Amino acid sequence: MDSLLEQIDTSRIPRHIAIIMDGNGRWAKEQGQDRLFGHFHGVESVRNIVEGCAELGVEFLTLYAFSTENWDRPAQEVSGLMELLVDTIRKETETLNRNNIRLEVIGDKNMLPESAQKALAESLDITRNNSGLRLIMALSYSGRWELVRAIRGIATDVQLGKLSPENIDQETVKQYLDTSDFPDPELMIRTSGEYRISNFLLFQLAYAELYFTDTRWPDFRKKHLYEAILNFQSRERRFGKTGEQVQVDTPA
Ligand code: IPE
Ligand code: IPE
Ligand code: MG
Repeated sequence: MDSLLEQIDTSRIPRHIAIIMDGNGRWAKEQGQDRLFGHFHGVESVRNIVEGCAELGVEFLTLYAFSTENWDRPAQEVSGLMELLVDTIRKETETLNRNNIRLEVIGDKNMLPESAQKALAESLDITRNNSGLRLIMALSYSGRWELVRAIRGIATDVQLGKLSPENIDQETVKQYLDTSDFPDPELMIRTSGEYRISNFLLFQLAYAELYFTDTRWPDFRKKHLYEAILNFQSRERRFGKTGEQVQVDTPA
């Protein structure tokens, strides 16, 4: 593992990594356990990866923890996940604070049970002055939900005369998204072998490098994070230009 870490070019660490933490249910089933057992073990991976990112100097880490569509899962799983969320926030806030990590939330917070809203509000407040890693939890989040909300906000401001349609550009749209304070992710990781975005950060992932691994989320550790970053560093990010142009633009 140390040798993987040594291979990472510390001058080219992605500023923002986004992760679709998938495969908890399958992991649990493989152990003959119920799905909540998998979610419970997924929390250990969250701890490990948050620590790994903080050590590497990653500035923003967005974790997809619960999607708008996940509300349609069996009630027992949803309530189990919400309890786990409250429990984890309560237990981990002190550690986040000690490590100078600032918690952030994107998504439809109003949909969350009151206990979760309260625990989150407290943790956001306690960690608000921390200047290290910004840990962004996507909760009751989906890219389409976020875009609809942004469009409503823009339409309202046009109606109020605060904004004129011809001045709306990509920057304006960005400002109305939940992620207005954060740069776009450079690297998006999805675990557990699915090759899809599942309504995650639709606007923001436009030019992200996508990395898919078969490793199930409860098994995902720093070693796997390093592998993803090394893979990212081996890619040429062209942003629509030619390889030759990019090689001139970025001196080795
Ligand atoms: C990801 O694991 C966690 C959440 C979506 C909350 P899943 O629960 O989706 O696990 P699989 O995909 O069924 O294995
Ligand atoms: C995406 O995983 C959402 C989260 C990881 C929170 P899902 O398991 O819900 O996605 P699908 O249903 O396989 O697309
Ligand atoms: Mg899944």
